[in-house]
Amino acid sequence: MLRARIAVLVSGGGTNLQALIDAQKSGIIKSGELSLVISNNPKAFALERAKAAGIESAVLTRKELGSQEAFEDAMIALLDEKGIDLIVLAGFMSILSEKFTRHFENRIINVHPSLIPSFCGKGFYGLKVHEAALEYGVLVTGATVHFVNEIPDGGKIILQKAVYIQEGDTPESLQKRVMEQAEWQILPQAAELVSANIIKMRGS
Ligand code: GAR
Repeated sequence: MLRARIAVLVSGGGTNLQALIDAQKSGIIKSGELSLVISNNPKAFALERAKAAGIESAVLTRKELGSQEAFEDAMIALLDEKGIDLIVLAGFMSILSEKFTRHFENRIINVHPSLIPSFCGKGFYGLKVHEAALEYGVLVTGATVHFVNEIPDGGKIILQKAVYIQEGDTPESLQKRVMEQAEWQILPQAAELVSANIIKMRGS
């Protein structure tokens, strides 16, 4: 059966993209194939990871395209042209409009570095999430993979994994543990689950 074509949207280091590449190699992702990487940051190291894995990539920036709408329209055109079935946001630091999320309804997933509904929504991204968790004093945090709709971090939850805070944790040490123990595991698992579902729906 034809695998679901996956596009990964990135902005930075791309360790979650790497986890997806590794999961495809090891067979954890078998219902989908990584077909395209789009970065909104020309300097993102994630682009090197895509190149090393032989995955086609493109850079699209709001600055060059003139507006958020033009940027999203260019992404929609490219994703449609490449026949993408599933979009994975892996450290993609741009909030997508309702027009974009509706166009790909139930076909966009995102990884967020906390247990939603804690420490999520507008302004909570990257290290800021872990700073907020430590400041609040929670003892357990984690990561969430969810569908993306027009509400930032507000779509249906697909998978979550808890991670314990340790004494002496800094935002950086916590970010690293949440990535290793949660994000890099549940993102590939969710990508496989949703890809398998897309194939199943196609077949019926
Ligand atoms: C990851 O921790 C991801 O969960 C987070 O940014 C980091 C990107 O790292 N995403 C968000 O905060 C989105 N709200 P990566 O580029 O190494 O995958």
